[in-house]
Amino acid sequence: MSELKRVLVTGGAGYIGSHVIFALQQTRRYKVISVDNHHNSSPKALERVAKLARDALPADASAQDRDSAEIDVHTVDLTKPDQIRAVFAQYGKGGIWGVIHIAAYKAVGESTEIPLTYYENNVSATVYLLQAAGEFGCTRVVYSSSATVYGTPPVIPIPETTRLEAHSPYGKTKVMCETIIADLCAAEPTRWRGLSLRYFNPGGAHPSGDIGEAPIGRPGNLFPLLAAIAVGRQPNDLKVFGNDYPTPDGTCVRDYLHVLDLAKGHLLALDALAPESKVFDDCPTDARYKAYNLGKGKGMSVLQIVEAMRAETKFDFKYEIVGRRRGDVPDLTADPALAAAQLGFKAEQTLETMCRDLWNWQTKNPKGYDSD
Ligand code: NAD
Ligand code: WQD
Repeated sequence: MSELKRVLVTGGAGYIGSHVIFALQQTRRYKVISVDNHHNSSPKALERVAKLARDALPADASAQDRDSAEIDVHTVDLTKPDQIRAVFAQYGKGGIWGVIHIAAYKAVGESTEIPLTYYENNVSATVYLLQAAGEFGCTRVVYSSSATVYGTPPVIPIPETTRLEAHSPYGKTKVMCETIIADLCAAEPTRWRGLSLRYFNPGGAHPSGDIGEAPIGRPGNLFPLLAAIAVGRQPNDLKVFGNDYPTPDGTCVRDYLHVLDLAKGHLLALDALAPESKVFDDCPTDARYKAYNLGKGKGMSVLQIVEAMRAETKFDFKYEIVGRRRGDVPDLTADPALAAAQLGFKAEQTLETMCRDLWNWQTKNPKGYDSD
């Protein structure tokens, strides 16, 4: 009889989801069920991540270990309640131990243009997922939130107690989903346990170069854009959005962390949802819900990132300083103390490693998953 805990990962084929699945499989404690509609991802990511897990198995691996290296793949749209319910029904009552809910649309600018699409895909889908999970007795949930919930934070580094005031529809969907999960944990405190993980700026890729971030079209985010420019997929015309911010070099400061550090945070969060965990003991009410920052606690400016990528790629980035980008805030640096103290989380990998692994992924896969 298998002792693997089944964990359902939504958005499993995406950038963060694929690295979270990698981390889960490394433990050989979980059987991963991936749910994704491939709106923004390739199914090849799941094939590649399972291959990484298979290749890591010793020759004498047990049948259970071999099972942990395979992924149950479901091509499902979370905005369709029947589809996600059918996944839970397939495993039966109590058949899935926990959910890591990563799937979402994430483009801040786009969310201001098509807010209803964002509310449907990010908020309605979360409700349907939780309804189906609850019906089948799966009441442990880890949620992918974002530093964007802090809007323009009054204090840097940002503690979790900061008031939430997201500016964009995208950011508001993150606040709403956090609230929904917190309300559910409050309504049924003996059943539900929830953790929101507020990611800061993830970067890098798996060191094998087999999985990584594969944005469609011109990347909007700094790291993938620099990689696309250096590999020749985009023109060498970086625009630096503003150098008149109240920061050391005038450009915006962000807290970049390696995606594999971020992925490890999900393992710690799952452990924190286990019955023997003490993380909810100090909750002010009997609701077992908390939110944690996942960041390094170290800010880096846009120009520092450009220089770090220049050192790694040896590419001569040309850039022009242009006006501020709408919605940008000067500094988003995490206070990582709570996650360190309560989850044991530490983002250990360096900026250089992030650049190295991103560049390795990009050069091996200049066109993302369509490279082969
Ligand atoms: P991604 O787009 O690479 O991955 C998201 C995945 O969810 C994709 O594979 C997509 O196809 C899937 N998906 C979207 N809508 C779906 C639906 N209705 N049904 C099924 N699958 C669906 O994005 P990512 O960078 O991996 O981000 C993952 C999560 O982390 C998101 O919730 C995002 O808001 C959050 N986040 C990301 C960042 C970041 O910088 N990447 C920072 C903070 C928070
Ligand atoms: C980083 C810095 C830009 C591109 C976004 C989301 C956030 C979260 C993480 C999901 C900023 C500057 C960028 C360019 C530039 N995602 N920049 N020229 O905006 O910090 O965070 O991803 O939750 O919600 O907003 O990341 O990589 O876009 O920008 O100067 O062409 O690089 O102004 O200061 P951001 P980013």
